[in-house]
Amino acid sequence: MTKEALVQAFFKIFGEGSEPVTLFSPGRVNLIGEHIDYNGGSVFPCALTMGTWFAGRKRADHKILCYSANFAEEGIVERFLDQLENDPDKGFTNYLLGIIWTFIKKGFPVDCGMEIWLSGNIPYASGLSSSASVEVGMGLLLKTLFDHPVSMQDIALFSQYAENNFNKVNCGIMDQFIIAMGKKDCAVLLDTATLNYTYVPAVLQGIKLVIGCTNKKRGLKDSKYNERRQECETALSELQNGADIRTLCDLSLKDYEELEVLLKDPVLKKRARHVITENERVKQAVKALKEDDITAFGRLMDESHISLRDDYEVTGIELDTLTEEAWKAEGCLGSRMTGAGFGGCNVSLVKEEAVESFIQQVGDAYRKKIGYETSFYTVDIGDGAVLL
Ligand code: GLA
Repeated sequence: MTKEALVQAFFKIFGEGSEPVTLFSPGRVNLIGEHIDYNGGSVFPCALTMGTWFAGRKRADHKILCYSANFAEEGIVERFLDQLENDPDKGFTNYLLGIIWTFIKKGFPVDCGMEIWLSGNIPYASGLSSSASVEVGMGLLLKTLFDHPVSMQDIALFSQYAENNFNKVNCGIMDQFIIAMGKKDCAVLLDTATLNYTYVPAVLQGIKLVIGCTNKKRGLKDSKYNERRQECETALSELQNGADIRTLCDLSLKDYEELEVLLKDPVLKKRARHVITENERVKQAVKALKEDDITAFGRLMDESHISLRDDYEVTGIELDTLTEEAWKAEGCLGSRMTGAGFGGCNVSLVKEEAVESFIQQVGDAYRKKIGYETSFYTVDIGDGAVLL
C-alpha cells in the first residue's frame, strides 16, 4: 500500500485530523535452521515483501483504539492504557498491547492513548510470522510516536519479550529479529547465542522461492511448541552432566554422539539429534550458497525436513504431503517445512520455468490426498520494518 492509501484508509475509520505515522512490517520465511533459535543455534531466514501496513497517531486520552482491515467485522476494538492485560477475547489487539506493556516495563513511557489502523497480506496462522510482523510494526510505531531512542534490534528483543511474557509463547528470537533487521534480496545468518549476524545475498539466478501453505491453521499457543522447548531444556540439563555447555548447539555432532548415552529417554535423544544436526546443516547450507552450489543447498533443505519429520516430529501429514510431493516435481531443487510446523507452510526452491507446472502438480496431489486446497505464493525477499 502507498502512504497516501494508508492515510486515506486511516481517516475513513478514525476521522480526519493530524496525519498518522505510516509504516510497513514484513513477514518472514526461514530458509534453513528450524527450532534451533532457542537452542543457541544459527538460523538463516529472510524478510518477505508480504507483511503488515500500519497507520497510527496519538490521542489525548488513555484509549487505545485498534482497527484491523483483516478483521473488519470486529470494527474498532477499544482497549485502555491503564488495563494492559492479555484478553483472549480481544484477538489481534493483544499483540499491540503486549508491545506497549513491554516498552513501559523496559523504561520507555507511553503516556497517552492511540488510534491504530492495520492491514496485512500474510496468510494468518500460516507460519510466516504474521504475529511477529504485527509486534515489530507496533514497536516501530511506538518508537516513532513517542520518540524513544530504541534501535531496531531493541524492538526485536522487546517483541520477543512480549511474545514470551504477554502472549505466553516461549518463542526464540528468529522471527522478530529478521522482521526488524531484514535486507532486500538477502538472507540473514543469525547466531542466536550472540546475536551476531551477517547478510548473505540470496537471490538466485533463474530460481524462485515458492511458499506452499497447507491451509491447516494453527496458533503456537495451542501447538506443541512450548512442549518441544521444554524437551530441549531437559535434554540440555542432562547433557550438562557430561559436558560444560550452555546450549545444545554448543555441541558438534561428534561430541553429541559420545554424550548421547546420558539421555535415557529415546524421545529426548531424537530431539537433541535434530537440533545438533540442523545447526550443522545451516553452516553447510550457507557455505553452499556462497559457493553458488544450489544443488547442495536444496539437498540440505530436504534433509532438514526429514529431521523435523522424524526426529523433532513437528510436521504432520499436511506438511509432509506438500513437501514430499514437491520433492517429486520437475525443477524443484529443495523443499522443507518452514517456521514452527504443525501445519503452516513449506518453502521450495523451484526453477523459474518450472514454477507453473510445480504449482499444478503439487496442488493436485495435495488436494487428492488431504481433501482441500493448498495456496502457493512466489515470493520476493524484502527489507525489514520501515517507515513510509
Ligand atoms: C516459530 C518461533 C521461532 C522459531 C520457529 C522454529 O516461528 O517463533 O522463534 O523457534 O518457530 O524455528
